[in-house]
Order: sequence, then structure tokens, then C-alpha cells
Amino acid sequence: MSEQQTPRPEDEEPHSRPDDVEVEAEGDAPAVEELDPETRARRDAALRRVRKFGDPVLRAVALPVERFDERLQREAEQMGELMHDALGVGLAATQLGVLHRMLVYKAYVDDELTVLVNPEIEWASEEREVAEEGCLSLPGVHVEVERSVSLRVRGRDARGEPLQIEAEGLEARVIQHEIDHLDGRLVLDRIPKQARKEAMRAMREAQRTPSAA
Ligand code: NI
Repeated sequence: MSEQQTPRPEDEEPHSRPDDVEVEAEGDAPAVEELDPETRARRDAALRRVRKFGDPVLRAVALPVERFDERLQREAEQMGELMHDALGVGLAATQLGVLHRMLVYKAYVDDELTVLVNPEIEWASEEREVAEEGCLSLPGVHVEVERSVSLRVRGRDARGEPLQIEAEGLEARVIQHEIDHLDGRLVLDRIPKQARKEAMRAMREAQRTPSAA
């Protein structure tokens, strides 16, 4: 909590702070060393397809989707599969080098996959909280990020049907993290300088041992 720049009284309360889960890496997933070889191989293959820090595409602003066709639906399905294989909870099209505004997520194991196209945050709570996030594009990085606790977002599904989502906690966090990707923003931009330095160091170490990322 010490990294919060504008501490608010209610932040003293230990309300649903999900600091044991991380965005884009399932909190209840087993440690990499414990994965069976097949799951691990699938995960490594999926991660190889995800653009990593240093790739300029991660800094680009994605454009709105205009055509809702079968191709888009197939792409959404593939993103869901890749996210699943990578043991992630969210993925933005940007991370696969596709610069249009589509993201997928599945905050909890029992949830269905949500595909969100052209998302617009209509409302985000002033109440914010800090929790740890990881990112498939930043191997080895786990940082404390402050986000709105709840939000309402409007967009479309892969078929173009209007979608309105009210989310809180981890789900709200994942949505904010993925929308950041669509805007060319990374968690590194949302943390203090010192934490960023440590994250860069963690990333360099992870690159030396890629499968432990
Ligand atoms: Ni990410």
C-alpha cells in the first residue's frame, strides 16, 4: 500500500484485496516447475507467440474494429486458446501483434471466456486498490499496480452484439490491464521509478531462464 500516491482513508480497510492473484498469470496455477511436461510445453509454445517488451507493437495504439465477421470470431477463439495455454487470465490482440481493439479474459477458473471488442470504460470507481500484476509480455515481472476497484465498460462481443459489463476486483483489474495494452500502455508505466528498475532487472533474469518466466 505504501506505493499509493494518494492514500485514502478507506484504503486502511482490508477489503477484498486480491494480492494473491496476478493478472495474466493464474494465481492458483501451479508453479512452473510443477507443471506436467505437456502443459509446460504448451505454455512455452503459447508464450513464444506473445510479443515481449521491446517490441514496438506493444507501444502502439490499436484501432477500433469495424468488421465483425467470421475471421474476427476465429481470431477471438484463438486468442482464448492461446491465453488458456499460456495459463493467463487476459490477453489483448496487441500482444499478438494485431493492432485492433479486442481483448479476451477469464478472471476465474469457472468463468466463461469473455471477448470484448472496442471497449470503452464508462465509469470507474474513485476507490482504488493496489495488487500484484504479471503480464505475458513482461516475463518474470510482478509489480504492485493501483487500479480502480470497480468499473462499467461498454463494447461489443465478437459477433458485434452490444455488451455492457460491470466488474469489480480481479475482473475489473484484468479489464483495465488489457485496455491499457490496446492503448500501448504497460504496467511499467503505472509504477514508481524504483519499481520499474527492479522489474527491468527481473525481466533480464527471466530472459536468461526462459522457461521459468
Ligand atoms: Ni499484459
